[in-house]
Amino acid sequence: MQSIGIIMNGVTGRMGYRQHLVRSILAIREQGGVLLSDGSRVQVEPMLVGRSEEKLRELAEKHGLTHYTTDLDDALANPDFPVYADFLVTKARVAAIRKAIAAGKHIYTEKPTAESFEDALELARLADQAGIKHGVVHDKLYLPGLQKLKRLIDSGFFGRILSVRGEFGYWVFEGDWQPAQRPSWNYRAEDGGGMVSDMFAHWNYVIENLFGRIESVYAQTATHIPERWDEKGERYDATADDAAYGIFEVEGGTLVQLNSSWAVRVNRKELVEFQVDGTLGSAVVGLFGCKIQPRNATPKPVWNPDLPETHDYAADWIEVPDNEAHENGFKVQWEQFLRHVLEDAPYSFDLLAGARGVRLSEEGLRSSAEGRRITLEPVEVPASAPELQAAGR
Ligand SMILES: NC(=O)c1ccc[n+]([C@@H]2O[C@H](COP(=O)([O-])OP(=O)(O)OC[C@H]3O[C@@H](n4cnc5c(N)ncnc54)[C@H](O)[C@@H]3O)[C@@H](O)[C@H]2O)c1
Repeated sequence: MQSIGIIMNGVTGRMGYRQHLVRSILAIREQGGVLLSDGSRVQVEPMLVGRSEEKLRELAEKHGLTHYTTDLDDALANPDFPVYADFLVTKARVAAIRKAIAAGKHIYTEKPTAESFEDALELARLADQAGIKHGVVHDKLYLPGLQKLKRLIDSGFFGRILSVRGEFGYWVFEGDWQPAQRPSWNYRAEDGGGMVSDMFAHWNYVIENLFGRIESVYAQTATHIPERWDEKGERYDATADDAAYGIFEVEGGTLVQLNSSWAVRVNRKELVEFQVDGTLGSAVVGLFGCKIQPRNATPKPVWNPDLPETHDYAADWIEVPDNEAHENGFKVQWEQFLRHVLEDAPYSFDLLAGARGVRLSEEGLRSSAEGRRITLEPVEVPASAPELQAAGR
């Protein structure tokens, strides 16, 4: 049986281990490999890369794997491993991906692809120039709730979509009397942290793929909790934004408003919830759930502050059934990307799409700092210096 080698860098981290190794690559191994369009299968062979040999050995032994190393250059020099996958902290990503592109590897990476739009676009350019395949995670699109929303949009349920309101977030403990449930680097700007950098990279592909191209962004960020305690119990200044209140104008006129916060207590059914209102109907979707209210079943409230409310508005909504089994989104994305590498299957979530996500974060932060709305022009992979020269520019 054919197999494909995958260098997995940062595999000891939260995302690298749980989502990419265990739930994706090992799950694909267990099912006998990735299924191609001709019915054949290609098995996956991971090479674990990280900074601690001891942790890597432990992981390899636990999962019956043979390849691991602390030497990235060594891994990149191995022709049996044509794919490089990156789950490092964001700050360390660009340098590692640059090396992998130079070594001729196909690239698959966590988001955000870089800390700056310039670097993200440069990665897209280098990858195109090298003629390699490249992909960026876009996991939120595979959440069962968002899959059901996509089905509703495709069916024409909404009519014209007017607005989208989203709430994402939960309370992330400060780390003093209860340990924080997210890594501390997320709360330090100097280490690549921040709500905008983390979540706008997601919101970009979610909005683009469900509602259309984003034409402008207005955001207000906040650092609600200015001091936190790290993994060792040491106090640090939380220099990054821990909340972002954003408004995105989408082509066609849909207005999307998203609140993202790690300093909010959950009073909704799920950790993320979007309400979509259209001329013909509305929907409220979460990670899993999706309920709708069509135009012809919409109640007619009348504002009257003198009377207590007797109508149960929540009861007016209809739950949308699953109608299909939903697999882990990270695994589905991996299979999609591997088919793109192995049989040139169509694929649009590339480093340029990743760069648009980084641009949204960058412009979101700029909008907040300057207190103004920022227009976003379409993005293309820039020409290289020799190409510009040949074009006489
Ligand atoms: N798609 C998603 O839903 C999602 C969710 C959370 C995080 N992420 C992204 O995944 C990436 C990893 O996040 P995480 O939460 O797993 O973080 P983590 O801190 O748990 O893991 C980071 C990994 O990078 C390694 N690392 C840290 N500093 C390094 C350095 N200087 N050089 C080389 N390696 C280094 C660590 O050893 C670890 O393996 C981030 O880019 C983050 O934005 C994505």
